[in-house]
Amino acid sequence: MSTGVRGQWSSKLGFILAAAGSAIGLGNIWRFPYVTGENGGAAFVFVYLACVLVIGVPYMYAELALGRAVQKNPVGAIDRLRPNSSWILVGVLGVVTGLFILSYYAVIAGWTFGYIFKMVIPNWLTFGEFVSRPVLVIFLYTVFMLLTIFVVHGGIRGGIERWTTILMPVMFFLLLGLIVYVNFLPGSGKGLAFYLAPDFSKITGKVILSALGQAFFSLSLGMGLMVTYASYISKEDNLVSSGLFVALADTAIAIMAGLIIFPALFAMGQDPAAGPGLVFNVLPAVFEHMPGGTVVGVVFFVLLSIAALTSTISLLEVPTAYLVDNRGTARKVAVWIVGILVFLLGLPSALSQGAVSWLSQPIVGDMEFLSLMDFLFGNISLAVGALFLSIFVGWVWGATNASEELATGNPKFKKWAPLWSFLIRFICPASIFIILLNLFKFF
Ligand code: TRP
Repeated sequence: MSTGVRGQWSSKLGFILAAAGSAIGLGNIWRFPYVTGENGGAAFVFVYLACVLVIGVPYMYAELALGRAVQKNPVGAIDRLRPNSSWILVGVLGVVTGLFILSYYAVIAGWTFGYIFKMVIPNWLTFGEFVSRPVLVIFLYTVFMLLTIFVVHGGIRGGIERWTTILMPVMFFLLLGLIVYVNFLPGSGKGLAFYLAPDFSKITGKVILSALGQAFFSLSLGMGLMVTYASYISKEDNLVSSGLFVALADTAIAIMAGLIIFPALFAMGQDPAAGPGLVFNVLPAVFEHMPGGTVVGVVFFVLLSIAALTSTISLLEVPTAYLVDNRGTARKVAVWIVGILVFLLGLPSALSQGAVSWLSQPIVGDMEFLSLMDFLFGNISLAVGALFLSIFVGWVWGATNASEELATGNPKFKKWAPLWSFLIRFICPASIFIILLNLFKFF
């Protein structure tokens, strides 16, 4: 790291890769298909795409502008612009949300890692047996947390940037190959219809809330991750085109995952609403019958583990940056403090899939501990964070200041500034607010 103590990406590509690495992860391949399945298929996909385009991308620009202008983590950034105000709570919410998302995300990442080995052990455990073995899941979870800590330890360039470079093209082509394969399986057409032919009468308040939550989760928005990553971007870089590329790549990978899962699922007569185990049940079954399936399966879960790792490091980076910027903690110490805290927070999630029975019981609705964490932090908390951050950027710091930052490195943005201001000041906060209102009905 040559530029100061905080570090900076080595190039424009460095940021794009790291941000895409953060965005593309289990959210695209594990979460998107199962949430789509639970919410009835194509109509959900339609609402999801609308949320990405109308709320996600404009909101992402707000986080990017704030981060690069102030060059701090979300708490530090808000504190700089409105010192000692209660707006700082929005930044704190982001940091806390990061801790909690990471706590269960790393559990699922641990399963992914374990599935690499499951691919080469014939007739080992079923998914249900696998996730209910306490020693196994905690071991895998620990390994994954240690990997994450190890990378973030290395800092911005050496750590985070390097990992993403090779992964994404390989992932893209592997998914493409799988799409072709599964869509030739007999019976796959029904899956494609479920996924792509919308029945708009299926759109309810819950569907819209899930779609919005999924859009924020998948794009890594709502908790200041993009604020933090943008704080390492140089002033010459083009935030607008970089952000757009990240959103496009993320959305493309999610859509591709669905083009694999749903045709395969219907070809095998499984239930699309099977919940969080969906991908872990469907894909191994596909690999089993496929020529060369073992190798494809291993490669797939290796890639998915790396995709998850580039996301977990981003989740760990936000609280770490907070301790480094605001508390003056040394980076290496901060990483361990946060890592150990998160590890403890995640233990109940790790044990909630059958290992410990009282943790595996439904707590609210049909959600056991891990699903409840995902609902509270991976959905609600991101939406609440985005609601307040869009108000902060649009009204408090001001859309004009933010537009200026976005136009730095991209003068053409000036033409779009009025439209963007309108979206960030009115459309984003109002639509998130209305969608959240539905929660009251939910409880
Ligand atoms: N976007 C990642 C995924 O789809 C998860 C993630 C990483 C995330 N960093 C985040 C979600 C920050 C919300 C906020 O897997």
